[in-house]
Amino acid sequence: MKNIVIAIDGYSSCGKSTTAKAVAAELGYAYIDTGAMYRGVTLYLLEHNIAFEDLPRVEEALHNMQITFKRNRRTGRNELCLDGVIREDEIRQMRISNAVSEVSVIPAVRHAMVRQQQRMARKRGVVMDGRDIGTTVFPDAEVKIFMTADVHTRAMRRQVELATKGEQVSLDDIVQNLQKRDYLDSTRAESPLRRAADAVLLDTSHITIDEQVDFVLERVSSVL
Ligand code: C5P
Repeated sequence: MKNIVIAIDGYSSCGKSTTAKAVAAELGYAYIDTGAMYRGVTLYLLEHNIAFEDLPRVEEALHNMQITFKRNRRTGRNELCLDGVIREDEIRQMRISNAVSEVSVIPAVRHAMVRQQQRMARKRGVVMDGRDIGTTVFPDAEVKIFMTADVHTRAMRRQVELATKGEQVSLDDIVQNLQKRDYLDSTRAESPLRRAADAVLLDTSHITIDEQVDFVLERVSSVL
């Protein structure tokens, strides 16, 4: 079987990472959550009191910080590490969700992350999810999926996810956050969120996770 790249892009909280993880497990592929990397950069800048507009300091920070993933043997999940320390829980908090799209708009941040993502998937055999995988990181990905869903469905899923981690957030706040991120992500100058011409659209508003996974696996079978 040849090793391919599966790019899963789309709006926030459409189920990209759940689908990508399950597809990777099914195929024995690596899973790379690129959103976690932008969240890690955001956490670093906030913790070091670096203003997002202060480009020289942002560039210096990009040079100094180490963004890596570590596999959790118990859960099988790849967890984001900042300078060698697992920060998976913190990067999912609302304070990071509220700031990340202002960081991911910075060209120097995007260049550094894209370079690292391309290096991480050099051997292919990966499922990568994000906003610009099929357009910028791997324009030659063999399978490209673009996911979308109704914003209220997305917000409700996100609310449950946050609650399981002990963070109670109102539906209104989540809807606002998703809409703000979608807007900033789609309108930025550098590699904006958009559907690649050859990406297949997957609307997850009314389908189950199993159906999402089967949809992607069928696309994979058609190219292998
Ligand atoms: O996927 P997730 O919702 O965790 O991504 C968080 C944020 O990171 C997005 O809203 C977007 O601003 C940024 N991002 C990006 N490009 C990617 C992945 C994520 O700009 N490939």
